Amino acid sequence: MQIKEILTQTPAEQEVTVKGWVRTKRGQAAVTFIAINDGSTIHNIQAVVEGDNNQINEDTLRSITTGACVAVTGKLIASQGSGQAVEVKAEKIEVYGSADETFPMQPKRHSMEFLREKAHLRFRTNTFGAIFRIRHNLAFAINKYFNDKGFFYLHTPIITASDAEGAGEMFHVTTFDIKNPPKTEDGQIDYKEDFFGRETSLTVSGQLEGELGALALSKIYTFGPTFRAENSNTTRHLAEFWMIEPEVAFYELEDNMALAEDFVQYVIKYALENCADDLAFLEKRLLDEEKNKPQNERSEMALLEKLRFVVDNQFERLTYTEAIEILLKSKPHKEKKFQYPVEWGIDLQSEHERYLVEKHFKKPVILTNYPREIKAFYMKQDADGKTVRAMDVLFPGIGEIIGGSQREDDYEKLLTRVKEVGIDPENIWWYLETRKFGSAPHSGFGLGFERLVLFVTGMTNIRDVIPFPRTPKSAEF
Ligand code: 4AD
Ligand code: MG
Repeated sequence: MQIKEILTQTPAEQEVTVKGWVRTKRGQAAVTFIAINDGSTIHNIQAVVEGDNNQINEDTLRSITTGACVAVTGKLIASQGSGQAVEVKAEKIEVYGSADETFPMQPKRHSMEFLREKAHLRFRTNTFGAIFRIRHNLAFAINKYFNDKGFFYLHTPIITASDAEGAGEMFHVTTFDIKNPPKTEDGQIDYKEDFFGRETSLTVSGQLEGELGALALSKIYTFGPTFRAENSNTTRHLAEFWMIEPEVAFYELEDNMALAEDFVQYVIKYALENCADDLAFLEKRLLDEEKNKPQNERSEMALLEKLRFVVDNQFERLTYTEAIEILLKSKPHKEKKFQYPVEWGIDLQSEHERYLVEKHFKKPVILTNYPREIKAFYMKQDADGKTVRAMDVLFPGIGEIIGGSQREDDYEKLLTRVKEVGIDPENIWWYLETRKFGSAPHSGFGLGFERLVLFVTGMTNIRDVIPFPRTPKSAEF
């Protein structure tokens, strides 16, 4: 039985065996208390070893230190102390693996930087246990949401020959000896000789293939790893992250927005209902951390309040053009407090997004109809010829959490745009063909999974919500 289940049992001196890792040991000869955690829940179970228990010898007891792995068998009794309802009166202890005083996860507060260097052991802390249980629950809720709504989970390729976002920030995939690749007569690398017979990379998005699926199965979603070789060392960027990309035939931009809002609210609500203990722990952790900060740097809402607020309130919808007008009239713009200039046509910077979300509207915002020059080639063009049917969902503390659009479904318009942005139409002939044969209006979006986990856990660095972060100059573990 896992600790999560044992803790819900009515104590009647029934025999239980608890297997897990020792968090703390305290007490002396007369009685020793051992707090054990097996990762099934944030809560520890307490094992009590009485001094006169001659079944458990002193050597065994001595080898039980923080970090050791043990199996404790004994009777489940009502706890004599406060803080827990039940405890195990130990009768037998097996030490699977001891841990000496060099075990880094000693019971004290460690910095997040320190824990990142110990990513192989950080799972054994309360904070990371909570984060990864929540991460699992969010992944499960995402699959449940789409399944319940009739979407099919489509597995799009990780190795690809096309740059879906057209940003060129891709990791190459090759079996060539990079010191000595085969060359063509004019000295270029001869990719015809490579494993796939062409230049290939790790995907930046499953969208293009997702669209092919949607234009037959009507409603699909992808949920897989994506890779970006952008050299952004920020708290919101990873080189390897997970993205969820629903794609729906017959959806226009308005339907797409409604889906994005309903979907995000559903998964956050799921976490609120199913991760209450872990969220309460993280909320308290945040409050403790903020105690040291000046009043004006503290969050306006505690974690649970913030999550409930997002679940209960409609997201604000406005166009990019309207957003620029708000920014132009804003105090920080007038007082020249923004680092980057504001004018129609700019790619909004995080400071602008955060102003709109955190200061102006004070709630999640969906911005639409961006200038076509700053968005990907596949977005449906608006009648004005200037903007496209794009949508970005912006969240407090995070900025962009979702990016999506209605897709260009007109063959000629799409082909023209492909050429304009410098993509060789031959490279994506298969994508273009779906606009030749039974084209249909369709829309979709991508949710950055780690940005969602970041928001829900209230953590501040994206490296702390993925088990093994991949970032510039860092790929250990
Ligand atoms: O806005 P993006 O680039 O959109 C796409 O890739 C589209 N193909 C999605 C679609 O329409 N199907 O990325 C989508 C989301 C962003 O909003 C952000 O949450 C996340 O992916 N994201 C990242 N997350 C972590 N690290 C990075 N380097 C990220 N880049 C994007
Ligand atoms: Mg984007």
